[in-house]
Amino acid sequence: MESVGIGLLGLGTVGGAVARRLIDEWELLGERAGATPALRCVAVRDTSRSRGFDLKNVRVVGDPQAVVADPAVAIVVEAIGGTDPATALIEAALRAGKTVVTANKAVIAASGPRLSALAAEHDAGLYFEASVGAGLPIIGLLRGSLLGDRIAALDCVINGTTNVILTQMRSAGVSYESALGDARRRGFAEADPSLDVDGWDAVHKLVILAWLAFGVHVAPDGVDRRGIRDVTGADVGALAQLGYRVRLLAHAERGSGDSVHLRVRPTAVGPGHLLHDVDDADNAVIISSDLEGTMMLRGLGAGGSSTASAVVSDVVTAVRERGTPVVNPAALTVPTMLGDADVEVAGYVRLQLSAEPEARALVLQALEDRGVAVDAAVDLTGSELIVLTGVAPRAVHDRALETLDTLTSVDQILGALDRVEA
Ligand code: HSE
Repeated sequence: MESVGIGLLGLGTVGGAVARRLIDEWELLGERAGATPALRCVAVRDTSRSRGFDLKNVRVVGDPQAVVADPAVAIVVEAIGGTDPATALIEAALRAGKTVVTANKAVIAASGPRLSALAAEHDAGLYFEASVGAGLPIIGLLRGSLLGDRIAALDCVINGTTNVILTQMRSAGVSYESALGDARRRGFAEADPSLDVDGWDAVHKLVILAWLAFGVHVAPDGVDRRGIRDVTGADVGALAQLGYRVRLLAHAERGSGDSVHLRVRPTAVGPGHLLHDVDDADNAVIISSDLEGTMMLRGLGAGGSSTASAVVSDVVTAVRERGTPVVNPAALTVPTMLGDADVEVAGYVRLQLSAEPEARALVLQALEDRGVAVDAAVDLTGSELIVLTGVAPRAVHDRALETLDTLTSVDQILGALDRVEA
């Protein structure tokens, strides 16, 4: 059988899992691809380090440019992560007419449309299924099965690390640090885990999904982003008592015309909501579209084996599609971002009432007076009050919270989150 040379950049958690699969299953993958994807060359930072598995006759080099330049390599798999030098390496491969398979969400979020155009210009393919949800085939859905639909909204849990942390915070006695340590040990966290906990990783993935779903390219800086550092165990616990689970929700919606809204925020998810039970490192993407209605993909969305599932699938697809004209998605329009006056949210607020008489009633009245309905109010011990606020524009919500902060009936606002219901 004919073979197609594969070059791999990086042999870490993802690269290692990809290499093993290509070496161990070359025969099966070859049958599926119609030609054998043959791993020829691997670039690693330290060529002297032992890998714990047999790389057979694969050439190991220290310089990733040598993989890109290797004439035996037709497909370059980028698994080093980060934007630098990954972006330049991907560009060099595409310019040389080599197809690129990458799991790199930071690169695709920042430069996906440009790299896609570069690939088309050089008759090369650009595949990035693993960049969002690891092995969950969400990119394939958006680039294939749903091409006949108009997509209205995406609601996602697309960062495994924060979901592991928020899940473990529900169990008394598990600290943020120990939960993050667990996510790192299991190979889910980024090399710099602030990308996870500050919401950037989810932002990158949401930008990619919005590009494919809506045909717009939003810069990562343009996404309304909050991480999970300020989420307290007290809020996670109080919400759990009420049946809610806190998740780092990534939401994208299309407004009228070319307007869109993208946000990544810790959010209280109500019982019965499709994302309520998506615990631990599971990811989920809910797609709302005009023809299909509501559909959800759910499964493990981080880690070496799940990411290798998508990368190897892309390699097989790239080999199978070699020689056929490449159709890459284009970014069609410059989006208008919806503002806080247009985006509607419901909320959760936990506050400490003062000793003032009628403090509770005054707080609830103040919210109503400022246009925020009270869906429920729950008293906790020690004069703490939880208010579940009704759907209103974010700007109205924010102003109402600012008002609460000035009331003598309120000693302190202890926590505030978005909230979604089934
Ligand atoms: N750090 C990422 C996560 C890895 O936790 O989801 C998968 O992209």
